[in-house]
Amino acid sequence: MSSGLLGLPAVDDTLAADISGRLDSVEDLLRSSVESEHSLLRDASRHLAEAGGKRFRPMLVLLAAEFGDRAAPGVVPAAVVVELTHLATLYHDDVMDEAVMRRGEASANSRWDNTVAILTGDYLFARASDILADLGPEAVRIQARTFARLVQGQIEETTGPPEGTDALNHYLGVVAGKTGSLIAASGHLGALLAGAEPAVVTTLTSVCEKIGIAFQLSDDILDVASESDESGKTPGTDLREGVHTLPVLHVLRSAAPGDEHLRSLLLSDLSEDDARHAEALTLLRAHPAMDRARADLRQWVDDAHAELATLPDLPARTAFMALCDYVLTRTS
Ligand code: IPE
Ligand code: IPE
Ligand code: MG
Ligand code: MG
Repeated sequence: MSSGLLGLPAVDDTLAADISGRLDSVEDLLRSSVESEHSLLRDASRHLAEAGGKRFRPMLVLLAAEFGDRAAPGVVPAAVVVELTHLATLYHDDVMDEAVMRRGEASANSRWDNTVAILTGDYLFARASDILADLGPEAVRIQARTFARLVQGQIEETTGPPEGTDALNHYLGVVAGKTGSLIAASGHLGALLAGAEPAVVTTLTSVCEKIGIAFQLSDDILDVASESDESGKTPGTDLREGVHTLPVLHVLRSAAPGDEHLRSLLLSDLSEDDARHAEALTLLRAHPAMDRARADLRQWVDDAHAELATLPDLPARTAFMALCDYVLTRTS
């Protein structure tokens, strides 16, 4: 099995080799897209692209394109557009979250500063737009609307739920916006630019949105559960920043009397107090809320599976199903 598909078992060898070859083309175009004549912008733009990353979104573009003409000329550029967009959001997200590590390296904001990180993100958006211009107005519109949803998700995360609204519903809206949107767009663009049947394009978009929501739930669970920097990020960042993700929301909804201490820790400012932050993380890891969050994650994955079952039975469908299972078990 090719490592080009996240080392997934049960993926057809011919498909794996094909996707692997196309991912090499994605890498080539990505590398040339993060160039700049300006040395600081070039160094800062290359920084995360070269640091690694799973290339999860480009992979979804390529897999979705298997439902049409996989060799259509827009497919590889679209895969680069979604990775560039993703990269740009990571530069900005690490500023917002004051994150010091990304992809196992110093984040751009910590290696340089916030100004460099913000401008590099902007530069990568510009590079994505340049490629998009050749993919036609529909692709431009999909990316524009995706980005608008993504920004709305990020801003709703920072404001928190409005008074009188349900925090869990708010959280799911945030997750769909900040992460589901771009992962859905990956399936959408891949299928559309490969000329897949309209009904297939719609289904793949919807499946990828569910995969995207599940992907963020697993990210949020990993931020608590991970006891190492295997993810390439610093665990406990959400707690430190006071971002109430799914496990925290389950604790805050619990009325169990033994939870009072943890609840008060979670509602306090943990950003400056290492000992309280460590205690909250330890208690949360051992709390049944983690199993509830994992059950929620499984439900989103099951829903994605069920929708995938309505698509034509191609090797790419099996690969999509394997990717769903990967989201359940991933550690990075
Ligand atoms: C990180 O995305 C941001 C989230 C939406 C959770 P990835 O987990 O895909 O990050 P890379 O691309 O592998 O670094
Ligand atoms: C990821 O948000 C969403 C975007 C980058 C748009 P997070 O803040 O939860 O992701 P990580 O954990 O930093 O990768
Ligand atoms: Mg973050
Ligand atoms: Mg964030």
